[in-house]
Amino acid sequence: MYSHFTLARKFIRYWLSASNSKGHGMHSPFVFDFITNVLNDQQPKPCYQPIENRRAALLNNSNSIEVEDFGAGSGVIRSNKRRIDKIAASSLKPKKYAQLMHRMVSYYKPATIVELGTSFGVTTSYLAKGSEKTKVFTFEGSSAIAAIANQTFEALSINNIILQQGNFDITLPEFLTSNPAIDLAFIDGNHRKQPTLQYFDQLQGACNENTILIFDDIHWSAEMESAWETIKNHPSVTLSMDLFFIGIVLFKKEFLVKQHFSIRH
Ligand SMILES: C[S@@+](CC[C@H](N)C(=O)[O-])C[C@H]1O[C@@H](n2cnc3c(N)ncnc32)[C@H](O)[C@@H]1O
Repeated sequence: MYSHFTLARKFIRYWLSASNSKGHGMHSPFVFDFITNVLNDQQPKPCYQPIENRRAALLNNSNSIEVEDFGAGSGVIRSNKRRIDKIAASSLKPKKYAQLMHRMVSYYKPATIVELGTSFGVTTSYLAKGSEKTKVFTFEGSSAIAAIANQTFEALSINNIILQQGNFDITLPEFLTSNPAIDLAFIDGNHRKQPTLQYFDQLQGACNENTILIFDDIHWSAEMESAWETIKNHPSVTLSMDLFFIGIVLFKKEFLVKQHFSIRH
C-alpha cells in the first residue's frame, strides 16, 4: 500500500491530467454519454438516505466480531477480533463511488452483477437498488461479516441479492460454471496483483460485449497499478476509464481503436 503522501501526489497528478467532467472535448460518444448522464447526475435518489443511515449505524457500532483475514484490502486493521465501526470506516466504498455505481446500474440495466467483496453490504445495496430486475451475486469470505451484510439487506428490504459466503478463490469458479453471463462486476476484494488478474481472467469468460468491469483502488499500491496496466492493455479491452479510486473497462467491439480516458470525479 502506498503512503498517504505518495497517494496524494498521485491523486494530484491524476486530477491535473484528467478530463473535465462536464463532458466537453470528449472524443468518445460512449464516454460523453457516461459523463453527461451518469457521472454528472447529482439528483438525490430515494435509496441514498436509507443506505447512508445504515452506513452511519455501522460506523457507530463499537461491537467486535471475529473475522477471518482474506486478502490485502484492509491494510489498517490486522487482528482477528475487529470492531464493526473500524471495519466500516476502512472497508466500505465511500458514498460518492457507491452512488455512482448505483447510477450505472440504473442507466445500463445489467441483468446480472457480481461483486467480489461484500463487506457489510453497503455498496451491494446501492447496486441492487439500481434496478430491481437485476440480480446481484455478492461474494464474502468472512461468515461474521456476511451475517451483518444479510442484516443490511433485510433492514433495507432488498430481495435481489444472493450472497455467496466463502473464499472466492473457490466460490467464484464454482459460480462461473453455472452462471455464464455477467453484465457488470465490481472487483473489490483481494487488492493484490495476482488475485486481481486471476479474477479478471476468470470473469472474462463470462463477459459479453456490453459487460462493464469496475476495479477498486487501482492506484492503492504498486501491485494494483501494475494489475490495472495489464488489464487496460489486454487485447479484449477496448475502452478504459481511470477515475483514480476506481477503474472501469469495457469490451465493446464498436470501439475500433482502443481508448483510455482519465476522468475527474
Ligand atoms: C474492501 S471490502 C468490500 C467492500 C464493499 N465492496 C463495499 O464497498 O462496501 C473487501 C471484502 O472482501 C473480503 N475478501 C477479501 N478477499 C477475499 C477472498 N479471497 N474470499 C472472500 N472474501 C474476501 C473481505 O473479507 C472484505 O470483507
